[in-house]
Amino acid sequence: MAKKHVLIIGAGSAIAQGLVKELLALPVSTNITLVSRDLSSYNLVTSPDLSKIVVTDYQQATIEKTVSTLKLENSSQSSGITFSEIFICHGLLHNKVISPEKRIEDFCPEVFLDVIKVNALIPLLWIKALTPLFSSKSKCKLVVFSARVGSIEDNQLGGWYSYRASKAALNMMLKNVAIEFSRRAKNIKVIVFHPGTTDTGLSKPFQKNVPAGKLFTTEFVAKQLLQITEDQAFDQRPSFLDWQGETIKW
Ligand SMILES: NC(=O)c1ccc[n+]([C@@H]2O[C@H](COP(=O)([O-])OP(=O)(O)OC[C@H]3O[C@@H](n4cnc5c(N)ncnc54)[C@H](OP(=O)(O)O)[C@@H]3O)[C@@H](O)[C@H]2O)c1
Repeated sequence: MAKKHVLIIGAGSAIAQGLVKELLALPVSTNITLVSRDLSSYNLVTSPDLSKIVVTDYQQATIEKTVSTLKLENSSQSSGITFSEIFICHGLLHNKVISPEKRIEDFCPEVFLDVIKVNALIPLLWIKALTPLFSSKSKCKLVVFSARVGSIEDNQLGGWYSYRASKAALNMMLKNVAIEFSRRAKNIKVIVFHPGTTDTGLSKPFQKNVPAGKLFTTEFVAKQLLQITEDQAFDQRPSFLDWQGETIKW
């Protein structure tokens, strides 16, 4: 059996780091390619199964160039790109200058554009660049990190205008992608994933109201995600799933 090859984009993510730990611990060895602006958190992780690609930014041209590097590395495979799983992990909720809006007066056009760029635009640019490499024969689970707060039906609390809207936009585009793939790349399964509140820098400022037992470790979420990914069928439909593998309404 050919060795599995997994691609992790936005691998600086704390949850992505958990994924890598779990993948390296699997009994079946798996090639893992990491793409990030900063892979220093992997300095101590050495494995012949790990390839690291550091990018300067996520402009369309950089993304296309990175994908052509991946294509070259895979050029011995005539059946196209050989990743069995691709994880796209980008997400921005806050940083030194951005915090999620509590009320409409907090809404700022520049912040909205920054947040939607990271949460919706960059993941779609990756999928756009990768799509020509998917042949009808390639079987791949395409997992994109979203969030339950991107569900329009689930929205009971309001707030977080930019983050919610950007994840809702991401979800809509992933639904589109899955519809298009059902016609032209039937063996690509699109999984839209909500990890639950996970103990990372992204959730740090918002952890105090999380109920006991509901703040997950990256290891737990990574284990869940690998199992959920494995369990999904190639059914030409997008799945919006939480950390338990339960369906979230769009
Ligand atoms: N943690 C949670 O509680 C939680 C809950 C719900 C959903 N999520 C989602 O899960 C995913 C991973 O979250 P995490 O907690 O692991 O986050 P994290 O540790 O803060 O990682 C941030 C991720 O976003 C990318 N990123 C950040 N700023 C960026 C920018 N300006 N331009 C491009 N990329 C940028 C990083 O890419 P680099 O590798 O290049 O740095 C990295 O992949 C995100 O999509 C997040 O929205 C997390």
